[in-house]
Amino acid sequence: MTKIGKDLALAKQLLQNGQLVAIPTETVYGLAANGLNPEAVARIFEAKNRPSFNPLILHVADLEHAVALTSEFPPKARQLAEVFWPGPLTLVLPRHESVPDIVTGGLDTVAIRVPAHSLTLQLLRSLDFPLAAPSANPSGYISPTQALHVAEQLGEKVAYILDGAASTVGVESTIVMVKDDSVYLLRQGGTSEEALKAVVGDIIHATTEAHDKPLAPGMLLNHYAPGKRVLLGNLSLLYGQHFQERVGVLAFKEPLPEIPLEQQRILSPKGDLAEAAANVFAYLRELDKLDVDLIIAEPVPDTGIGRAVNDRLKRASGKVG
Ligand code: TXA
Ligand code: MG
Repeated sequence: MTKIGKDLALAKQLLQNGQLVAIPTETVYGLAANGLNPEAVARIFEAKNRPSFNPLILHVADLEHAVALTSEFPPKARQLAEVFWPGPLTLVLPRHESVPDIVTGGLDTVAIRVPAHSLTLQLLRSLDFPLAAPSANPSGYISPTQALHVAEQLGEKVAYILDGAASTVGVESTIVMVKDDSVYLLRQGGTSEEALKAVVGDIIHATTEAHDKPLAPGMLLNHYAPGKRVLLGNLSLLYGQHFQERVGVLAFKEPLPEIPLEQQRILSPKGDLAEAAANVFAYLRELDKLDVDLIIAEPVPDTGIGRAVNDRLKRASGKVG
């Protein structure tokens, strides 16, 4: 089993040597490498089996380090960074020439964020390079929100797993691209659209739902998918159609009375969307491991971080839009 622990000096040393270290963040665990070392970054793609056109996010300790990775930092980007960093917001901005092509997938932009996790911030402050880090799961599978999830899925492919407890937000960062004076929403995530609007006014939807060719190349259908079939909709109706099969249930507030409780996970009995977000990936994982034929899930209220939860559920079921 891969080593799991809180040894920052070891994590630093491995990263300096071009190795892969899983890092905790408030959203999900990342699979990190030196973001300025193309060979180290290549190991990420190899370990995840990730298509090379899918660019990575660079993680830095603060705004100043982010600015150094860009050729331009528009005022609206700065406003967003000042309000939401450290936190679950990724900014896509014109890249600095020092950022390797393998990080950006050849695009002229780079994605950057400052994660809100004390251990990872300490690590970032101790390094003189940014950390390129996608979610620490095999490409297409559910993102990890605990150190153990990473160990189960990536095992020996990662040199060390820095253990920072369970991710508190639980869904990935919101991604926005700022171009001149316009803000484009590329991925729903841990920072709500409402909160973004309160800071910069109008934002333009550029998520996969609105475009055939997604602006965030990683937003493919069938992402975040467990091994089992996932059906999304009204739980009673879905159960009615599949009562002859063994069904696992992912409910928002209340279990389905017809099904044994062991086969069900409740995202938030008190109906709290932040709690639902924090639980969604771990629960999908648990249901995937149960002896069931398929998983039925219901959408949560489509507001705030609930939008990101619904987006991930749609992708888990292979349906976007
Ligand atoms: O919360 C998060 O964002 C987590 C943690 C580890 O920070 N990271 C994460 O990374 O979700 P990943 O690689 O799973 O998703 C990054 C997304 C992909 O959809 C990718 O296509 C998009 O960001 N992306 C990266 N660079 C981009 C760019 N220059 N332009 C547009 N999209 C970009
Ligand atoms: Mg991912």
